[in-house]
Amino acid sequence: MARILTGTQSSGRQHLGNILGAIQPAIELSKDPKNESFLFIADLHSLTSIKDGKVINENTHATASAWLAMGLDTEKTVFYRQSDVPEVCELAWILNCFTPFPMLENAHSFKDKVSNLAEVSAGLFTYPVLMAADILLYDANLVPVGKDQKQHLEMTRDIAGAFNHRYPGTFILPESKISEETMTIPGIDGRKMSKSYNNYIDIFLPEKELRKKVMSIVTDAKTVEEPKNADSCIVYQIYSLVAGQDEDLEMRRNLEAGNYGYGTAKQVLFEKLMSAFAYEREKFNHFYIDRSKVENELKKGAEKARDVSGPVLARVRKNLGFNLK
Ligand code: AMP
Ligand code: TRP
Repeated sequence: MARILTGTQSSGRQHLGNILGAIQPAIELSKDPKNESFLFIADLHSLTSIKDGKVINENTHATASAWLAMGLDTEKTVFYRQSDVPEVCELAWILNCFTPFPMLENAHSFKDKVSNLAEVSAGLFTYPVLMAADILLYDANLVPVGKDQKQHLEMTRDIAGAFNHRYPGTFILPESKISEETMTIPGIDGRKMSKSYNNYIDIFLPEKELRKKVMSIVTDAKTVEEPKNADSCIVYQIYSLVAGQDEDLEMRRNLEAGNYGYGTAKQVLFEKLMSAFAYEREKFNHFYIDRSKVENELKKGAEKARDVSGPVLARVRKNLGFNLK
């Protein structure tokens, strides 16, 4: 039995890139009965960039609604909000006192900002330590993350190793599961789909707005009659990620044959998104308008999470010989 744990920042509405690149793979992993899975929304980490708690709450709600709509089973996964488990802050502080300054100075997340130190808060500087606490507090064995988080995982192991060196047997050293070749979902302008490029497709939008978004996908200036290159067509690239093999082949043939305009291809993609995610769209609205339902799920998840975090923190205090309760 492996305990799998991962976190996602509360960065607002989840787009097609998040869904295909992160949410669906994590839900698949959680279905394996050999695994026990923990998934949380890292709202305390979001505070390093968003300074308005109301905005973070709103983002947390939208993020949680998307995970639940996509089929996260809260019976199988401990699904919680980071800040609902206060033990994480105490552990982060203890780990801070075991983390060498140069290690943090070396973190990419900090180095990116080093040219403007006035903008760097102590929270941003110690971001990797809170992340180590997130992981070590639950005795996690495996942490699936994207490549960009690899260094944070190495730091977690280093911090845990330094503590264990002095107080043997305190922490389980987690392994990272880095998805090297996770596909990159293109946005409507062909760059990586991302909130920061504002090129994303939000599949939970009302029908009219979703259609408008799909119709705004960038294409070249070929006429309806001209044959087109499917591989360089963004409409086709996105379609092939959600369509079945036969449908995929059909659009490719149509584009390559000519007499098939981009407008038609976009309409086909729009209809596919509507049908492929019909159930999830309905569920999203159901959760999104019912805040108390989502809150309830997160609260139940936090209780289960605290069943684990309490004893682990007690073990840390005991091994440290510190202020025993
Ligand atoms: P972000 O929205 O950048 O905080 O990313 C949250 C999760 O979604 C991470 O695991 C990313 O790897 C994944 N993700 C975000 N954008 C894409 C994309 N365009 N293609 C694939 N995965 C993505
Ligand atoms: N830093 C991660 C990200 O931005 C989110 C995160 C916070 C996380 N704590 C974690 C991921 C613990 C895995 C494990 O994507």
